[in-house]
Amino acid sequence: MPNTAVIFFSHSGETYSSTGNLPYYAQGNCERLARYVASKIEAPLFQIIPIKEYSPNYQECLEEAKRDKEQGVFPELLYDMDPIDFKNIVLIYPNWFNSCPMPIFTYLAHHKFEEKRILPICTHGGSGMGHSENELKSAMPGAIFLKGFALPGEEVDKKRDEVVSYIQKSLAK
Ligand SMILES: Cc1cc2nc3c(=O)[nH]c(=O)nc-3n(C[C@H](O)[C@H](O)[C@H](O)COP(=O)(O)O)c2cc1C
Repeated sequence: MPNTAVIFFSHSGETYSSTGNLPYYAQGNCERLARYVASKIEAPLFQIIPIKEYSPNYQECLEEAKRDKEQGVFPELLYDMDPIDFKNIVLIYPNWFNSCPMPIFTYLAHHKFEEKRILPICTHGGSGMGHSENELKSAMPGAIFLKGFALPGEEVDKKRDEVVSYIQKSLAK
């Protein structure tokens, strides 16, 4: 898909599941989804990675992420990618505390998104998109937001083609 980039953040390691177990994923839910989507829509893929990665231990990750959120920490990122060349951004992220992970906000703060079309795709543990869409709108002034799509993280492998169709339809408009 021309003029489109897939940008994602994902946590790898122990992952929330409604069964109460904490399955271990070397690639988190959003990463598996983003890789699939990018290959299907033939778009470049960029991963937002903080220099200091969150712990693969779920409980420790929760504590670290909560601390970042409460203290308004913008974690420094390992790499950057200027989105200037892309008209459409498919932004894939997990719901963290009904919002987005702070590294997403670090990335957004470094770039301008005026006139770009943003399609948020959020994976979650039961709370849908939470307030994330509104927070993204505040962090990306002037961007054109397409209606986002939320799906439970534990269904990403089952629903990945549904997500691809949704993205293709949204961006074709
Ligand atoms: C730090 C942290 C906070 C989370 N907060 C929420 C939440 O508020 N609501 C929710 O539904 N799921 C929450 N989750 C679950 C994730 O959104 C869900 O497991 C997601 O699919 C993880 O994607 P990932 O594996 O790509 O990181 C949280 C997970 C973590 C690690």
